[in-house]
Amino acid sequence: MNTQQASQDIHAFTAEAQAAIYQAIFSRRDVRGQFLPTAVPDEVLSRIITAAHYAPSVGFMQPWNFLVVRSDEIKRKVHAAFAEAHAEAAEMFEGDKRATYKTLKLEGIVESPVGICITCDRERAGPVVVGRTHMKTMDLYSSVCAVQNLWLAARAEGLGVGWVSIFNQPALQAALGIPKGITPIAYLCVGYVSHFFAKPELEAAGWLPRLPIEDLVYFDQWGNSDDQQPLVRQLVRDQAAMQAAANASPLQPATGQ
Ligand SMILES: Cc1cc2nc3c(=O)[nH]c(=O)nc-3n(C[C@H](O)[C@H](O)[C@H](O)COP(=O)(O)O)c2cc1C
Repeated sequence: MNTQQASQDIHAFTAEAQAAIYQAIFSRRDVRGQFLPTAVPDEVLSRIITAAHYAPSVGFMQPWNFLVVRSDEIKRKVHAAFAEAHAEAAEMFEGDKRATYKTLKLEGIVESPVGICITCDRERAGPVVVGRTHMKTMDLYSSVCAVQNLWLAARAEGLGVGWVSIFNQPALQAALGIPKGITPIAYLCVGYVSHFFAKPELEAAGWLPRLPIEDLVYFDQWGNSDDQQPLVRQLVRDQAAMQAAANASPLQPATGQ
């Protein structure tokens, strides 16, 4: 065994653990319409919120809070804020797109048993933060990392998550009592589901396709693509395999196992 192989073996997860990680990544979906009323046990909620809290953050500032919404009354307020913005959003699309937009279900706020609003406190570590000295939005991106950790952990637990962002920000803040200095990053609908779709619903509905990965990868300089690179040929094969797998299984059982 050469030195490189040895160091890979020391640090790599087992093949089974690797497969589980990729399964969570590729079978994660944004869920809107398949929520079941089944309660989510506190132990499970605790695991996914803890996973979120262990996300990376700029300067380790951990700018997030997790506002857990269980009250039907509060959910209805959040839904009212969504409905207002959703009606405005429809008017921003033209023609066929507007008609299609109106048919899309873009939230499960009331049906999902739990809502979790992940926020960003931009002042948490004071005005000067390691790593945020020049690119000021890094704290916002840190809270987004927390969202993704929660989303993947939830998928592994068999929980669906749907990110709702169609809000006028002040209306969402008012519904949840979030003070002005705190930025809401994601309102997440969380719950067990009847099933997970194999593909993004927007892809299946013909709204947008998944982009070819070879168009997105550049080498050394912006815009420098090279489809003769072995890496690019491998990326094309990997994406084709993922798309073929998704096409072969339009629905996955809710357990996803
Ligand atoms: C920042 C962000 C905001 C989103 N906002 C909404 C939303 O308001 N409503 C919705 O139905 N989906 C929303 N989504 C989910 C996307 O539509 C979804 O991730 C995308 O269509 C790909 O599908 P998938 O997550 O199932 O792979 C959002 C996703 C992100 C990352």
